[in-house]
Amino acid sequence: MSKEEKEESGQTAIVTGSSSGIGLETSLALARNGFYTYATMRNPAKGKALVDRAEKEKLPLQVAELDVDRDESVKNTIGGIARERKRIDVVVNNAGFALVGALEETSMDEIKAQFETNLFGALRVMKAVIPVMRRQASGTIVNITSMGGKVAIPLDPIYHGTKFALEGITESVRYELQPFGGKCDTCRARRGKDELLWQPKACT
Ligand SMILES: NC(=O)c1ccc[n+]([C@@H]2O[C@H](COP(=O)([O-])OP(=O)(O)OC[C@H]3O[C@@H](n4cnc5c(N)ncnc54)[C@H](OP(=O)(O)O)[C@@H]3O)[C@@H](O)[C@H]2O)c1
Repeated sequence: MSKEEKEESGQTAIVTGSSSGIGLETSLALARNGFYTYATMRNPAKGKALVDRAEKEKLPLQVAELDVDRDESVKNTIGGIARERKRIDVVVNNAGFALVGALEETSMDEIKAQFETNLFGALRVMKAVIPVMRRQASGTIVNITSMGGKVAIPLDPIYHGTKFALEGITESVRYELQPFGGKCDTCRARRGKDELLWQPKACT
């Protein structure tokens, strides 16, 4: 579908964790490609730089509050977008952070917080958008994982655990969405020598 066709048919995208980094750039990339984009973040006050860039380029983008750790926040924001736009075509589960430290030095609270955001946060969003995608018989979910979701190094065990788990869940959910034409895939970000590399084809 061309950029113009996407705009005309009201194609809608949602990105989590858009206040910085990959989420911010992915939100801009989707809006530049014709998607009406909800750049979501837990603290919308952090969205000013993104909004300024979008306004300068006259992009179809708005910032919305979404904390992936909170059921109510996911339910209200995803529900509001579905009511407003009548469709959700692309969702990028990007919100996340890296807990660094040896397992024996990591508290259970830290471990739970890492899983809450990186894994359960993505699952909350997937559970909220899949019924919308099933009704419209289309939709794409991209879960931002990591090369650390395939290969593990020392001192990041919990981070690796969240990304390995998201890889496995994504693979299984992909088969659940196939019958109605939905898609679910991962995008394995990795840091290159001088820049952050990821697979832009999967993200745009
Ligand atoms: N950068 C890398 O080298 C790399 C490599 C592999 C994978 N990744 C993955 O790529 C994704 C983005 O990373 P990044 O490098 O772009 O990091 P980043 O610049 O730190 O961005 C992380 C984003 O996640 C948000 N976030 C954290 N907890 C959240 C929550 N509970 N609800 C909603 N948003 C939340 C942050 O919001 P706040 O501003 O509010 O904190 C921020 O917007 C992560 O999933 C990360 O694991 C990154």
